[in-house]
Amino acid sequence: MTIRVSPILPGFGAEVSGIDIARPLDEATRRRIAAIQDRWGVTVWRDTGLDDAGHVAFSRLFGRVELAPRHTGKPSRMSEPELFDASNLDLEGNIATNESIRLGAKGNRLWHSDSSFMRVRSAQALLLCHEAPPHGGPTWFADTRGAYDDLPQSMKDRLEGLRATHSYFWSRRRAGYPYTEDEIDAKPQAAHPLVHVHAGSGRKALFVGAHTRDIVGMDRADGRALIDELIAWCTRPEYTFAVHYKPGDMTIWDNLCSLHRGGEYDDSLFRRDMRRTTVRDPQAPPAEPDHFTRMFADAGDTPFSPTETTRERVMAAS
Ligand SMILES: [Fe+2]
Repeated sequence: MTIRVSPILPGFGAEVSGIDIARPLDEATRRRIAAIQDRWGVTVWRDTGLDDAGHVAFSRLFGRVELAPRHTGKPSRMSEPELFDASNLDLEGNIATNESIRLGAKGNRLWHSDSSFMRVRSAQALLLCHEAPPHGGPTWFADTRGAYDDLPQSMKDRLEGLRATHSYFWSRRRAGYPYTEDEIDAKPQAAHPLVHVHAGSGRKALFVGAHTRDIVGMDRADGRALIDELIAWCTRPEYTFAVHYKPGDMTIWDNLCSLHRGGEYDDSLFRRDMRRTTVRDPQAPPAEPDHFTRMFADAGDTPFSPTETTRERVMAAS
């Protein structure tokens, strides 16, 4: 068996083939896959043959797999508690008409790092395609290590030691969800360094995206201008590429050295059934397994099941 690694950009992203990841893997192969992921940041695996259980089992190669956020008492379409439903489908498998789900999808089309709004961050995300739109519906990726490397030294010096706040509710506001600044202030958020060392490669990476709200200790307008400048820098064409899917294809991205966003497609017309697992940052201390779900419970509102009041406000704003 020969593992083949075909780079997508010169230093970022690779298609990997020559290995059947739906079967049990020996330790040497597992280590090799983890090393490839650390090196390339995003890997693409075609026609994997993985089912839901196999998807979760393979994900454990990278560490602790998080439980997907669930709203208490609400049924899920997913067969495994670790699977996050990234589709545009409702419980019956029909195209969702719920405005909250539609706005959530709009938010996912902004460049972001999954769960950056959590104190304990997520590292690898494994997105498996079960059903793809006939045209489009890709995921776009951006290289935050290469982008950092190419920053002018004056900007690197400026960013040294800076921290930024991240809020899920801020990115929803960016996407059109009618949260006020005061409402976002009252909800949970997390602070992280703007530049960190990616543990898997030892390289520095920018850590900024749609959830990033303010620079700690900086004037709000200046901070947001800097955040927007850095996102624009990371997502220049030389740092980005798109992955298009067929059923069975999977991408794995490292949230700590990349940004991503959902590509355009007509989500009112075409079904897109994507399921994701998420692996916790291996550098993070142990925490409650359902911390993500609890964050939304603590926030007093959940975008996965809006109250009537919230739904009316969304409708009024859209
Ligand atoms: Fe995402």
